[in-house]
Amino acid sequence: MSTQAKIPANMARQTVPALQARKGGEPIVVLTAYTTPMAQLLDAHVDILLVGDSLGMVLYGFDSTLPVSLDMMIQHGAAVMRGAHQAAIVIDMPFGSYQESEQQAFRNAARIMKETGCQAVKLEGGRDLAGSVDFLVKRGIPVMGHVGLLPQSVNRLGGYKARGKSADEAQNILDDAKAIADAGAFSIVLEGVVESLADKIAHEIAVPIIGIGASSRCDGQVLVAEDMLGLFTSFKPRFVKKYAELGYEIEKAVAHYAAEVRSRHFPGSDHVFGAIDSKKQNSNK
Ligand code: KIV
Repeated sequence: MSTQAKIPANMARQTVPALQARKGGEPIVVLTAYTTPMAQLLDAHVDILLVGDSLGMVLYGFDSTLPVSLDMMIQHGAAVMRGAHQAAIVIDMPFGSYQESEQQAFRNAARIMKETGCQAVKLEGGRDLAGSVDFLVKRGIPVMGHVGLLPQSVNRLGGYKARGKSADEAQNILDDAKAIADAGAFSIVLEGVVESLADKIAHEIAVPIIGIGASSRCDGQVLVAEDMLGLFTSFKPRFVKKYAELGYEIEKAVAHYAAEVRSRHFPGSDHVFGAIDSKKQNSNK
C-alpha cells in the first residue's frame, strides 16, 4: 500500500508571497528534505521543504554543519526540486558562503537559485546580516531568516543550548528578528529559544515565524524529517517529537534479510527468473 499522496496535475507550487501572507493564519508546515525520494514522500503534506545544511550532520556524519559546501547544497537542492512539485523549496546557504560581504552573499545565493530553481534561500544571523538580506531581497532573491540558536555559530555560542534565558539575550534575539524582518525576509526560522520569547517574537514580528524548539504559537513549525521519523535510535533532543520509529523498523528489516540470506530462504521462487519447480525436481530424485 502506498501512503504517498497524489498531487493533482493542476496543483501549483506554493509561492513566497502566499506563504508570507499566512502570518497569523493557518500554520505553515515545514520539514527538511535532502534527497529526491524523501522529497517525493513529503511534498504533498508540507508547505515548505527546507534543504537544510543539517544534511552535513544527518547524511554525512559531520559533527557540525560547518563543513558543508555550496556545491553540496546545490546538488541536494536540485535533487529535492526533482522530487517535489507542490511545496516551496528553500535552500540553506552554508557557512562561509555569505558572511563575507553582501556581494558574496548575492553571488552564491544567485548560484543556488539558478542551478536548482528553488524558491528562496535561508541564512543564519541577526542585525549583522540585515544588510545582506536587504541586498538579496532588493535584487530578487527571497530570503528566509534564522535567529535564536544558530548552528553555524556553534563555536561562538559554545554549544547547542537553548537561547534567550537572560533578559539581555532575549532582547538581542528580538532585535535580530526585527532587523531581519525589516530587511525584507519573507519568514524567519526561530530555533531553540525559551517559549515566552518565542511567543513575543511571533506576536511582534510582522512575517511568519517558523519555530523549532520554540512555541506552538509560532506561525509554523519545522523539524528535521529524519528526527521526527525516528531514524536515529539513540538521538532525541527535547524539541523533537517522534511520529514513527523507522530506525527500529530498519534494524528489524535488515536483521530479517540477513537471516534469510544466511538460511537460503531469500531469494525465494518469486524473486528469481524462470524458477526451477522444486516439486518436479524432488519427484525426479
Ligand atoms: O539546517 C536545518 O535543517 C535547519 C532547520 C533545522 C531549521 O536550519
